Amino acid sequence: MAGTETTSTTLQWAILLLMKYPEIQKKVHAEIERVLGPSCLPTFEDRKNMPFTNAVIHEVQRFVTLLPHIPRCTSYDTHFKGYFIPKGTTVIPLLTSVLLDKTQWETPDEFNPNHFLDVDGNFVKKKAFLPFSTGRRNCIGESLATMELFIFFTGLLQKFTFKPPPGVKESELDTTAEAGFTMRPHPQCACAVLR
Ligand code: HEM
Repeated sequence: MAGTETTSTTLQWAILLLMKYPEIQKKVHAEIERVLGPSCLPTFEDRKNMPFTNAVIHEVQRFVTLLPHIPRCTSYDTHFKGYFIPKGTTVIPLLTSVLLDKTQWETPDEFNPNHFLDVDGNFVKKKAFLPFSTGRRNCIGESLATMELFIFFTGLLQKFTFKPPPGVKESELDTTAEAGFTMRPHPQCACAVLR
């Protein structure tokens, strides 16, 4: 679940969101054409020359909060912000509180890759980008997942245009989540059209 469902579900969200926002998908395609062309397979190194694609992947992760609440447990009696939390209490940090924080993001409830771009289109890191959580027990697979997401997402977009099935409008695509181990998109059909 930690190593596979997380990244595969993030990719499902990425495909769904790019179907819903074809103008964003077009910009990813344009960047792939400019940097990689049609047949040069992506490597993680290419990420630094592909700020828009990188921003889209970050925005997918921010927008969906894949793992909003991982339960933890206090290993000793703890005083925190005026509260006493005895040893052995289950504590559930809510990552949505930071990934959708109105003070940190211009349009927190909208899918907006500009959250990670400056006015010149350069990629900008954000301290509130914490889909992998933070602290000493944050996600141990973060760097692997980051690499996998870039390579799979870019490779898929290099080969395919993703569209809703005939008769389904972009506005009809459902981006509400189904709760499980991860927040998953509702099952929906996608057309992968070879480019
Ligand atoms: C998009 C992909 C992923 C996301 C969003 C994600 C997110 C998270 C989050 C939020 C936590 C909880 C951290 C905390 O409680 O502070 C976590 C823990 C963990 N993740 Fe990931 N993860 C992803 C991919 C992976 C991958 C690819 C692996 C392994 C190959 C992995 C292995 C783990 C493990 C073992 C833990 C528990 C770490 C511990 O308890 O010290 N994750 N992950």
